[in-house]
Amino acid sequence: MKKLIVANWKCNPATLRQAQELFRATIKAVPKSKNVKVVVCPPSVYLSGFRFSAKGGSAFGGQVSGLKLGAQDVFWEDTGAYTGAVGPRMLKSVGVTYVVMGHSERREQFGDTNESVRKKVAAALKGGLCVIVCVGEKTREADASEYALYVKKEVEEALRGISKAALKNVVVAYEPLWAIGSDEADTPESTLEMALYIRKIIAGMFGNVVAQSFPVLYGGSVNIGNARAFLRDGGVDGLLVGRASLDSKAFGKIVEEANGL
Ligand code: PGA
Repeated sequence: MKKLIVANWKCNPATLRQAQELFRATIKAVPKSKNVKVVVCPPSVYLSGFRFSAKGGSAFGGQVSGLKLGAQDVFWEDTGAYTGAVGPRMLKSVGVTYVVMGHSERREQFGDTNESVRKKVAAALKGGLCVIVCVGEKTREADASEYALYVKKEVEEALRGISKAALKNVVVAYEPLWAIGSDEADTPESTLEMALYIRKIIAGMFGNVVAQSFPVLYGGSVNIGNARAFLRDGGVDGLLVGRASLDSKAFGKIVEEANGL
């Protein structure tokens, strides 16, 4: 299976010009690779400017790249009286193929819940997008069974009601909250346990066969120094990269690490 490396730019950078510069630099820094799929998720206002032709050429600068375009969130209706919302068909129509949802920052600051994430997952899949569902415990202070159950509930509720066939367009990103935006990444050993656990939850919902090859990503303070260890020993199929994706060279190196495995 190809590794999946996702750049989550969050609410950065501040202007279109800076975003174009970062995007161009990212295209340049990311090595061409048959083993890695790279998705860049800028703020939605920049998406149409980064539009890709079906052949993989980007619309600005005439640069050709194999990068895929992702959004950081989506609403569950395509159109209607929903001020401020962006629907799945809108994303699809500007060349987006992936959408991140249920990120902890959306859950904490914008009121996303397991139920709203479930509705978004269903709508995005119906709209032909691949979804990256973020899950992760807030803290590990409680005993292990407690945080494991927290993650189980997030996975089960987000994916409730989707078909086995649709599961091929679903990825789960394990992102413990305490590791996001901190300098305290999880360890590959504990990520391995969580990746196995998430696949076990998937097996319980959809059967063993699909669960075995179900893609799980790790996210939370991924950097050049730890990316390789997560990919090699963390039992994951890719990484969701926040801060380090704003540094095109660092991001390129992370993709390079994934490519070398
Ligand atoms: P970080 O963010 O890499 O800056 O910790 C990761 C994420 O929130 O996806």
